Amino acid sequence: MDCSFYVVEQLQMIVSYRFNKKCAAFSILKNRFILLFLTLFFTYSYFLVETSSINKQPEHILRLLMANVLQSPRSFKVSSNNFTLNYFVGGNSNDGNKVNCDDDILSPYSSDGECNQSDSIVSAHTDESRGTSDTSSTSSDHEVEILKSTSPEPSFISLSEMYQIDLELSRQVGKEVYNISEYGSVASFIQSRIEAGIENGSFLITNLNSVLKQFNQWKQELPMVEPFYAVKCNPDPAIVRLLASLGCSFDCATMGEVDLVLHGLGNDLSFANLNKAATSVVYANPAKMEHMLKYAIDNNVKMTVFDGEDELHKIASLPGGKNMQLLLRLTTDDKSSICRFSKKFGCPVAEAPKLLEVAKSLGLHVAGVSFHVGSGCGDANAYKTALDHARKVFDCAESYGMTPMTIVDLGGGFPGDTGGYGGPGMPTFQQLATAIREGIVDFMKVEKRSSDKVRFIAEPGRYFVSASTVISTKIYSRKGGNNKYQALYVDDGVYGSFNNVVYDHANPIPMLLADAVAATKGEVETKELLPSAVFGPTCDGLDQMCSLESTNLPRCEVGEWLIWDNMGAYTHTASFVFNGYTHIPSKSYCFI
Ligand SMILES: Cc1ncc(COP(=O)(O)O)c(C=O)c1O
Repeated sequence: MDCSFYVVEQLQMIVSYRFNKKCAAFSILKNRFILLFLTLFFTYSYFLVETSSINKQPEHILRLLMANVLQSPRSFKVSSNNFTLNYFVGGNSNDGNKVNCDDDILSPYSSDGECNQSDSIVSAHTDESRGTSDTSSTSSDHEVEILKSTSPEPSFISLSEMYQIDLELSRQVGKEVYNISEYGSVASFIQSRIEAGIENGSFLITNLNSVLKQFNQWKQELPMVEPFYAVKCNPDPAIVRLLASLGCSFDCATMGEVDLVLHGLGNDLSFANLNKAATSVVYANPAKMEHMLKYAIDNNVKMTVFDGEDELHKIASLPGGKNMQLLLRLTTDDKSSICRFSKKFGCPVAEAPKLLEVAKSLGLHVAGVSFHVGSGCGDANAYKTALDHARKVFDCAESYGMTPMTIVDLGGGFPGDTGGYGGPGMPTFQQLATAIREGIVDFMKVEKRSSDKVRFIAEPGRYFVSASTVISTKIYSRKGGNNKYQALYVDDGVYGSFNNVVYDHANPIPMLLADAVAATKGEVETKELLPSAVFGPTCDGLDQMCSLESTNLPRCEVGEWLIWDNMGAYTHTASFVFNGYTHIPSKSYCFI
């Protein structure tokens, strides 16, 4: 209702009744004024609600409640030879405050929710910067500091407070988010879907808290390194949107991935809308298809990598190519890593000077160096060696009179669970992070940059998502009768989510859903275990996830379900259709 018309109408009535029918007018007017009062009251209330909801922008709320992370006040001291690296996490605090970073406690992110470069400044102070002019000072004179964030101190918010806004969270990640505490356990949740007849084929369940926890840990251990999530690892929009809302940047390897990050995350998070293409996306594929590169350039993506002369010519030939910030990808010593890349990508450090010369002659801007020590890094020192090589390339560029380099991209390689990649004999994330911090100290120490700022970025993939996802598969056939072994045939296999068995050196371990549910209710029953082979649904003999030698399960029946942990990295994303099976497990649930 338009109130102004109504008010004018009332005034006209007052005037017309004033001289003629004063008494009658009074009683009519009394009713009308009550009506007018109620109208104005409801209009005002409506505006109040509207205004308050403006202050509750979903993105803001999500950041406040979910984006735990950066601000856990903490300080680190890492000694390396003659000097100490100090870095402080959370506000300006230098008091070493410890916070409880249990699953249950989330701390808000920076005030603006962004993972700003300035939040994590790496700077080295030489004697020069302290007022003397001796730039040839020894390393003991050279103090490296890694300072974190001047954002205000956070307050901490528990998950139970977060549950109250799970609708907001759902809106942000683009799908319904279930509260697992209402079901008791993930296994019980899965069973509830099956019993309700909602699910009859393999499906995925993703724990958003697990992603949050990893992000939190990253910010604690490596606050000076900006994570660019490797989208290829798991492009589930819910995960990508969650990470984007936490302020994470992205490593995209194709046009499709660039498109997802720029245009596929919804209005609030779209990197195109937020003008983050130039600073927060690295097109980290050294061998790019021309039309894809053109798409990236046209969409203002600036950072990309190269490892050969021909790629440089390709970049230089495209309009806008010379405005790109190029990272020279180096080969690494990846012999201890589970998945090795250096045969396919990278340039040996010894050949870097030649590539720099070519780039210079083409008028291209080489802004830094990138490397990947291999996925599932088995030797923490690989990062240190690679950082040392990166520094040599930095020095070389300066000796050629090129614009000083500013970016070091440490790639991926970090474990995301305690299975094979993070299992016995493999370095933990904390151990890798320690080596990286020491490597960065050495990098800065030798560089002796008094005022230059170096931006350290990385491309973690499996680290964020590996532990987040459980896959449930249905047993549709069985062989073995009453023998002391069994073969089980389930509805997802190596041509589906379990392609990681073939391509990612995975050894997935199943559990009978019924047992998992019973265990969470404390109803543990001792059962005889049988050596069990588990096969996928195609006719290919290779379509096998578990062998009799590796796996023991209780006797299973057709119609029962197996669940598989740690299936978030390099799984359903690489599924394909084969043998007439069209069911690629794209159905996934999210929970907190
Ligand atoms: C260029 C690049 N960056 C990052 C990653 C992610 O590696 P990870 O999952 O080991 O962290 C990969 C994996 O293939 C990659 O090729």
